[in-house]
Amino acid sequence: MGDGLIASSDGRVVSTGSNLILSIYAIHNNPQYYPDPQVWNPYNFDEDKVAQRPNHAFIPFATGLRQCIGNKFAMISMKVFISKILQNFKLTTDQTEFQFDYYLIVRCRNGYHIKFEERSKEKRSDT
Ligand code: HEM
Repeated sequence: MGDGLIASSDGRVVSTGSNLILSIYAIHNNPQYYPDPQVWNPYNFDEDKVAQRPNHAFIPFATGLRQCIGNKFAMISMKVFISKILQNFKLTTDQTEFQFDYYLIVRCRNGYHIKFEERSKEKRSDT
Protein backbone atom coordinates (compact mmCIF):
# COMPACT_ATOMS: atom_id res chain seq x y z
CA MET A 1 0.00 0.00 0.00
CA GLY A 2 1.44 3.39 -0.98
CA ASP A 3 1.97 6.40 1.28
CA GLY A 4 -1.16 8.01 2.67
CA LEU A 5 -3.45 5.06 2.08
CA ILE A 6 -4.87 2.54 4.53
CA ALA A 7 -6.52 -0.74 3.52
CA SER A 8 -9.10 -2.54 5.62
CA SER A 9 -9.13 -6.31 5.98
CA ASP A 10 -11.89 -6.55 3.35
CA GLY A 11 -9.86 -4.55 0.81
CA ARG A 12 -11.44 -1.09 1.17
CA VAL A 13 -8.93 1.75 0.87
CA VAL A 14 -9.03 5.26 2.39
CA SER A 15 -6.50 8.09 2.56
CA THR A 16 -4.82 8.68 5.90
CA GLY A 17 -6.36 11.68 7.67
CA SER A 18 -9.81 11.01 6.18
CA ASN A 19 -12.84 11.65 8.36
CA LEU A 20 -15.06 8.59 8.44
CA ILE A 21 -18.61 8.69 9.74
CA LEU A 22 -19.83 5.44 11.23
CA SER A 23 -23.55 4.73 11.53
CA ILE A 24 -24.01 2.66 14.68
CA TYR A 25 -27.72 2.51 13.82
CA ALA A 26 -26.94 0.92 10.42
CA ILE A 27 -24.60 -1.62 12.06
CA HIS A 28 -27.26 -2.61 14.60
CA ASN A 29 -29.88 -2.92 11.84
CA ASN A 30 -27.79 -5.01 9.47
CA PRO A 31 -29.97 -8.05 8.63
CA GLN A 32 -26.78 -10.04 7.96
CA TYR A 33 -26.19 -10.08 11.73
CA TYR A 34 -29.68 -9.33 13.07
CA PRO A 35 -32.40 -11.05 11.01
CA ASP A 36 -35.54 -8.91 11.08
CA PRO A 37 -33.64 -6.13 12.88
CA GLN A 38 -36.70 -4.02 13.78
CA VAL A 39 -38.17 -6.86 15.83
CA TRP A 40 -37.16 -6.84 19.51
CA ASN A 41 -35.44 -10.15 20.03
CA PRO A 42 -33.34 -10.56 23.19
CA TYR A 43 -32.22 -14.00 21.92
CA ASN A 44 -29.99 -12.08 19.50
CA PHE A 45 -27.73 -11.75 22.53
CA ASP A 46 -27.51 -15.43 23.47
CA GLU A 47 -23.85 -16.41 23.90
CA ASP A 48 -23.81 -18.59 20.76
CA LYS A 49 -25.40 -15.83 18.64
CA VAL A 50 -22.88 -13.27 19.88
CA ALA A 51 -20.02 -15.67 19.13
CA GLN A 52 -21.18 -15.95 15.50
CA ARG A 53 -20.95 -12.20 14.88
CA PRO A 54 -17.82 -10.07 14.34
CA ASN A 55 -16.68 -8.30 17.54
CA HIS A 56 -17.84 -4.92 16.32
CA ALA A 57 -21.33 -5.90 15.19
CA PHE A 58 -22.73 -4.42 18.43
CA ILE A 59 -21.14 -1.15 19.54
CA PRO A 60 -23.71 1.01 21.37
CA PHE A 61 -20.87 2.75 23.22
CA ALA A 62 -18.65 2.99 20.12
CA THR A 63 -15.26 1.32 20.18
CA GLY A 64 -11.56 2.06 20.09
CA LEU A 65 -9.70 4.92 21.74
CA ARG A 66 -12.68 7.31 21.77
CA GLN A 67 -15.27 4.86 23.01
CA CYS A 68 -17.70 5.96 25.71
CA ILE A 69 -16.09 6.33 29.13
CA GLY A 70 -19.53 5.99 30.77
CA ASN A 71 -20.16 2.47 29.39
CA LYS A 72 -20.08 0.53 32.67
CA PHE A 73 -21.70 3.32 34.70
CA ALA A 74 -24.54 3.58 32.13
CA MET A 75 -25.13 -0.20 32.06
CA ILE A 76 -25.21 -0.50 35.87
CA SER A 77 -27.47 2.57 36.24
CA MET A 78 -29.91 1.22 33.65
CA LYS A 79 -30.06 -2.22 35.33
CA VAL A 80 -30.70 -0.67 38.77
CA PHE A 81 -33.30 1.73 37.35
CA ILE A 82 -35.18 -0.94 35.37
CA SER A 83 -35.14 -3.50 38.20
CA LYS A 84 -36.51 -0.88 40.67
CA ILE A 85 -39.30 0.08 38.24
CA LEU A 86 -40.25 -3.56 37.58
CA GLN A 87 -40.23 -4.41 41.30
CA ASN A 88 -42.77 -1.68 41.95
CA PHE A 89 -44.87 -1.41 38.77
CA LYS A 90 -46.45 -3.59 36.13
CA LEU A 91 -45.88 -2.02 32.71
CA THR A 92 -48.28 -2.46 29.79
CA THR A 93 -48.89 -0.72 26.47
CA ASP A 94 -51.40 -0.74 23.60
CA GLN A 95 -48.96 1.10 21.37
CA THR A 96 -48.15 -0.76 18.16
CA GLU A 97 -46.98 2.05 15.86
CA PHE A 98 -43.66 3.76 16.36
CA GLN A 99 -42.09 6.57 14.35
CA PHE A 100 -38.49 7.41 15.03
CA ASP A 101 -36.27 10.45 14.59
CA TYR A 102 -32.60 9.77 14.06
CA TYR A 103 -30.25 12.07 15.93
CA LEU A 104 -27.00 10.99 17.61
CA ILE A 105 -29.39 8.68 19.41
CA VAL A 106 -32.71 7.37 18.07
CA ARG A 107 -35.81 9.01 19.58
CA CYS A 108 -39.44 7.95 19.36
CA ARG A 109 -41.33 10.90 17.77
CA ASN A 110 -44.53 10.61 19.82
CA GLY A 111 -43.00 9.07 22.90
CA TYR A 112 -43.73 5.69 24.44
CA HIS A 113 -47.24 5.23 25.82
CA ILE A 114 -46.69 3.02 28.82
CA LYS A 115 -49.19 2.36 31.60
CA PHE A 116 -47.62 2.01 35.06
CA GLU A 117 -49.72 -0.05 37.45
CA GLU A 118 -48.42 -0.11 41.02
CA ARG A 119 -47.82 -3.62 42.28
CA SER A 120 -49.43 -4.35 45.64
CA LYS A 121 -46.85 -4.55 48.44
CA GLU A 122 -47.59 -8.19 49.34
CA LYS A 123 -46.89 -9.31 45.75
CA ARG A 124 -43.45 -7.71 45.60
CA SER A 125 -40.64 -10.23 45.73
CA ASP A 126 -38.52 -8.12 48.12
CA THR A 127 -41.13 -7.74 50.92
C1 HEM B 1 -26.83 4.47 27.45
C2 HEM B 1 -25.94 5.42 27.73
C3 HEM B 1 -24.81 5.83 26.83
C4 HEM B 1 -24.57 5.55 25.51
C5 HEM B 1 -25.42 4.70 24.55
C6 HEM B 1 -23.34 6.21 25.15
C7 HEM B 1 -22.75 6.16 23.88
C8 HEM B 1 -21.59 6.82 23.53
C9 HEM B 1 -21.00 6.79 22.21
C10 HEM B 1 -21.55 6.04 21.00
C11 HEM B 1 -19.88 7.56 22.24
C12 HEM B 1 -18.91 7.84 21.07
C13 HEM B 1 -19.39 9.09 20.36
C14 HEM B 1 -18.56 9.39 19.13
O1 HEM B 1 -17.59 8.68 18.83
O2 HEM B 1 -18.87 10.36 18.44
C15 HEM B 1 -19.75 8.07 23.59
C16 HEM B 1 -18.73 8.90 24.02
C17 HEM B 1 -18.63 9.40 25.28
N1 HEM B 1 -19.46 9.12 26.36
FE1 HEM B 1 -21.11 7.97 26.32
N2 HEM B 1 -22.85 6.88 26.24
C18 HEM B 1 -23.70 6.67 27.29
C19 HEM B 1 -23.57 7.13 28.58
C20 HEM B 1 -22.52 7.90 29.04
C21 HEM B 1 -22.33 8.29 30.43
C22 HEM B 1 -23.26 7.91 31.60
C23 HEM B 1 -21.20 9.05 30.46
C24 HEM B 1 -20.52 9.73 31.61
C25 HEM B 1 -20.73 9.41 32.88
C26 HEM B 1 -20.66 9.12 29.10
C27 HEM B 1 -19.55 9.81 28.73
C28 HEM B 1 -18.99 9.82 27.46
C29 HEM B 1 -17.82 10.57 27.07
C30 HEM B 1 -16.98 11.50 27.96
C31 HEM B 1 -17.58 10.30 25.71
C32 HEM B 1 -16.44 10.85 24.81
C33 HEM B 1 -15.25 9.93 24.89
C34 HEM B 1 -14.12 10.42 23.99
O3 HEM B 1 -14.40 11.10 23.00
O4 HEM B 1 -12.96 10.12 24.29
N3 HEM B 1 -21.49 8.41 28.27
N4 HEM B 1 -20.79 7.61 24.35
